Amino acid sequence: MRNEEIEAIRQAANIVDIISDYIPLTKKGNNYVAPCPFHKSGQERTPSFTVSKDKQIFNCFACNKGGNVFSFIMDYQGVGFLEAVKTVADKVGIDFKYNNKNAKSETYKKEFETMDLACKFYLNNLNTKNGVEAKKYLLDRGIDDEIIKEFEIGLSTQNRTSLYDFLTKQGVDLQTIDNIGLVNKNGVDVYDTFLNRIMIPIKNINGQVVGFTGRIYHNEDQAKYVNSKETVIFKKSEIIFNFDKAKNYAKQEKQIIVVEGNMDAIKMFASGIKNVVALQGTSLTKFHLDVFKKLNIPVIVMLDNDAAGLNATLKNGELLHNYGIETKVVRLTGYKDPDEYIRGNGVEALISNINNATTFVDFKINYLISNTNFNSSIDVADFIKEVAKLLKSVDAVTQDVILSKLENNTTVSVEIIKNELRNNLVSEKRIDSLDQKRRTNISKKRSKYDILCKKILFYLLNGVKYINVFRQEIGYFEEKKERELFNEINYFYKNNQDVFLADFITHINGNQELSEMVNECLNENNDEELNYDSFIEYISLMKKEMNKIELEKTKKQVKSEMDIDAKVKLIEKLAKLKKGCVDNEKGD
Ligand code: UTP
Ligand code: MN
Repeated sequence: MRNEEIEAIRQAANIVDIISDYIPLTKKGNNYVAPCPFHKSGQERTPSFTVSKDKQIFNCFACNKGGNVFSFIMDYQGVGFLEAVKTVADKVGIDFKYNNKNAKSETYKKEFETMDLACKFYLNNLNTKNGVEAKKYLLDRGIDDEIIKEFEIGLSTQNRTSLYDFLTKQGVDLQTIDNIGLVNKNGVDVYDTFLNRIMIPIKNINGQVVGFTGRIYHNEDQAKYVNSKETVIFKKSEIIFNFDKAKNYAKQEKQIIVVEGNMDAIKMFASGIKNVVALQGTSLTKFHLDVFKKLNIPVIVMLDNDAAGLNATLKNGELLHNYGIETKVVRLTGYKDPDEYIRGNGVEALISNINNATTFVDFKINYLISNTNFNSSIDVADFIKEVAKLLKSVDAVTQDVILSKLENNTTVSVEIIKNELRNNLVSEKRIDSLDQKRRTNISKKRSKYDILCKKILFYLLNGVKYINVFRQEIGYFEEKKERELFNEINYFYKNNQDVFLADFITHINGNQELSEMVNECLNENNDEELNYDSFIEYISLMKKEMNKIELEKTKKQVKSEMDIDAKVKLIEKLAKLKKGCVDNEKGD
């Protein structure tokens, strides 16, 4: 069964090893710690992110993220539950069948199938006599039959309804064709979107064709490229051209190269540099950044050799760098883009440029040095601020290297930069400690009962012996959310004969409210080891709190009760409750 399969995968994985694949962990007591990857932790004094080997869970007390090994992968890589299970299964060498194309493919099955049909139609055109000129154009650019096949490059013809007619004949309805932007409509007039262009299919990161980009190849007076518009399956912000093919090569090469144009990517791929993707002239989105982060390898930004390419390098480089991705930069000289560079200097020369890529930090520093007027105090002030911002994100040794470089190449005093860096850190620390204060204030306002509930629930999540004591001594929770969690714990216990937190987390996956509740329980008990005596103490405190709450409630009821018999009963109850309180307090 699926659940057992998933549980076996979780048990085979050691959360400490899995998380270590993504972020370096430091051993501290029984646990492992790190600066939290889920919130901007800056220069945290004490790492807020804790991984427990015994409990097989992680949590961050600062940002309330937490969970088991699957939750980590889901949060870190921004993937769904089953994909996270698949990732972990791969790492521990268990075969787990999961096809992540399924969800979307099912909903838009017709649209995807129609895209494939269109792709084949265009491909076929290129091999007819209509395609002779286009094929020659491609060959002139170094794109031979093998690459044409690999990228499924095709041709749209001058006939303004040929694709529409073809698809209709295949039984596809107009609505579906329109849904994926392959036709334009003008009243009753329906005609193909792409006419007389070399057609390059655009695939999503799973390798499914979702759109096209069409290039002119003779009549130069038209727009060079026409691209699919945004549709239900073509989301521009999620497209990374050639990622489906480049992914595995990138993992082998331990780096991925990002270029501007599709043609650059195709040409590099054809020349043997296969770990290459194209941005198609846009800037990186959160989706793109997550995809790159997930690869966990350096990203090399190699955009066009013009002003737009330079600006895009600065912008995208910064996005990647700030996202915690190792980022390098190549700036080509002499030719406009990698495609032309290969044509002019050969692929070996391009490879040598790639091998000599500079880190983004070095690139930015050099850029700042050559674009600052060191005679202008405004410029110099900006320069210092920018440099300090960059230095914050690098280790101490690199900081020193950069500072000594600045000493030799600029007139700016290194002391001033160091000072700015220190000020930055101090002000961040101040914000940090403000946050801390705010957090403790919030927790002060929370009722004792609420805190005890979380502490006790944490124990209930960790084993049947605690559940039995709780059932005997208290047995229920006042609050709805706590009750729901307890019900779920009982249900899990009934089916599994015990409760192990890390597996319970899998069980409630998908229930956001319960998952958050579990995280709150984790945080309430941050770093605390399970201890039977502490648990008993919490139970006794909880009883006292419940008594107090009941007492307050009864006092109010006594005041408002009009029926004399009922009032007497309430007063008796009040007396008992008061005795209970006194008894408890004596025990302190
Ligand atoms: P480039 O003009 O650098 O194109 O635009 P390129 O990749 O070098 O193309 P070739 O070598 O002339 O064939 C970069 C990217 O900007 C988008 C395309 O995605 C292109 O790959 N673009 C450019 C358009 O969408 N439309 C255009 O008219 C031009
Ligand atoms: Mn080009």
